[in-house]
Amino acid sequence: MARTIERMIRVGGLISPLLVLLRGTAGAVPQVLESASVGNGSESSNDIRSYFAIDVEDGALRTPELITKYGYPVESHQVTSADGYIISVTRIPSKKVVHPWPVLLVHGLLASSADFLIIGPNNSLAYLLADRGYDVWLADMRGNRYSLGHTRLTSDSPDYWDFTWHEMGYYDLPAIIDLILRQTGARQLNYIGHSQGTTVFFVMASSRPEYNDKIAHMYALSPAVFVKHMRSPLSRWLVQHANLLQDLFDTFGIHRFLPHSDGQLKISQMLCPLAETENLCMQIVSLTVGPNPKMVDMVAMQVLTGHDPAGASVKQLMHFAQLHRSGKFRQYDYGRRNNTERYSHWKPPAYNLSAITAPVTIFYARNDWLIDPRDALRFARLLPKEPTVHLVEDDNFNHLDFTMAKNARPMVYERILSDLAKRERTATNGRS
Ligand SMILES: *[C@@H]1O[C@H](CO)[C@@H](O)[C@H](O)[C@H]1NC(C)=O
Ligand SMILES: *[C@@H]1O[C@H](CO)[C@@H](O)[C@H](O)[C@H]1NC(C)=O
Ligand SMILES: *[C@@H]1O[C@H](CO)[C@@H](O)[C@H](O)[C@H]1NC(C)=O
Ligand SMILES: *[C@@H]1O[C@H](CO)[C@@H](O)[C@H](O)[C@H]1NC(C)=O
Repeated sequence: MARTIERMIRVGGLISPLLVLLRGTAGAVPQVLESASVGNGSESSNDIRSYFAIDVEDGALRTPELITKYGYPVESHQVTSADGYIISVTRIPSKKVVHPWPVLLVHGLLASSADFLIIGPNNSLAYLLADRGYDVWLADMRGNRYSLGHTRLTSDSPDYWDFTWHEMGYYDLPAIIDLILRQTGARQLNYIGHSQGTTVFFVMASSRPEYNDKIAHMYALSPAVFVKHMRSPLSRWLVQHANLLQDLFDTFGIHRFLPHSDGQLKISQMLCPLAETENLCMQIVSLTVGPNPKMVDMVAMQVLTGHDPAGASVKQLMHFAQLHRSGKFRQYDYGRRNNTERYSHWKPPAYNLSAITAPVTIFYARNDWLIDPRDALRFARLLPKEPTVHLVEDDNFNHLDFTMAKNARPMVYERILSDLAKRERTATNGRS
């Protein structure tokens, strides 16, 4: 066991920076690989059937195409944040208004709105909500493939990439929430976030507390607030080498991390054959999020590689690395001197958790190698309003299982759906 893990770490340690560098140089590599023959690998792959009602080509579709393919109506919206970033928001409108609150779904790091669609109808959270008549909104945070616009800057400019998830929470989310409330006429919305999709929420709720009142309920799937006890060897490796990587990135002028490429599905089909359950992609994923092979659907995993990585800023990653090292939930650390200039204190200010008054339900999982149960529970204890805390009843459930597992629906989504229905009944009874 130890030997295997050691070997995996070595492979991971070599592969991931390699991928980072390859992808950092954009375009060139995928084009070379695309012209190579993919041929028979994917042909034999077609024999592998999915547990879900999906197929591999879903990995090549964009969010609105995916929604249309499965017969749901779709609207594309854009909103400009106060600092000029143009954010895409996709809506699956409800056929008739049957619920008082729309639902906003927010994806994790290096991911996109597609995360809530990948496992297809009858399983993905976005479709389950739409089936029950909810007005569903999917955000794409700045810097991912769908939200690369800016009123002044192009995404080739280093200044464009000078943001972390702080700005997403401080600028993007309020703009998105105001857009949804304006479009729907609702006074509040329900929020469901996964991983970094929760980080940005808690940034907003603590630093722009007036937005708490616009939230009917917040469901935090694997809350990424404290990441001190992160177990993932791959992520620990990245964090330990964060300074080195930062220097490397600075030297090469790289500010964006793992941008999306249209060739990435082909690359993963070539490097990671579906028939091999322990292929390279699976190893990298397991080493990052925690292993749970029984709940992995190989087709869904290949579809995922067409969507993710969807792009992020290097600074965004470094900010998470800082949270891991400090064990605190606080703003970006620019070093003593620059902190003093920026924050009037040598230390970056901690986010004020006492200001978070929106009602919160936390889901956490025992085998989550990124958000350890200790970190999730510590966060739960520090919220001023006691949250509902729910441990997923599958000891092997990992970080990615919240959006990808064969049992995501019974373990997590059914609970959210019945909780939403219950809250709605209570609210309408209270009003009448
Ligand atoms: C692909 O399969 C065909 C027959 O199914 C075979 O003739 C061909 O040589 C194979 N090509 C490669 C590159 O393996
Ligand atoms: C979804 O599930 C229902 C019954 O649970 C079934 O009738 C329907 O065909 C399923 N849809 C898909 C796309 O699998
Ligand atoms: C601190 O500020 C200086 C001068 O503006 C800048 O060159 C340097 O990159 C900054 N350091 C960090 C860590 O941002
Ligand atoms: C944190 O928020 C609470 C509640 O809004 C407030 O009373 C307190 O003064 C805030 N603390 C800081 C340091 O801003």
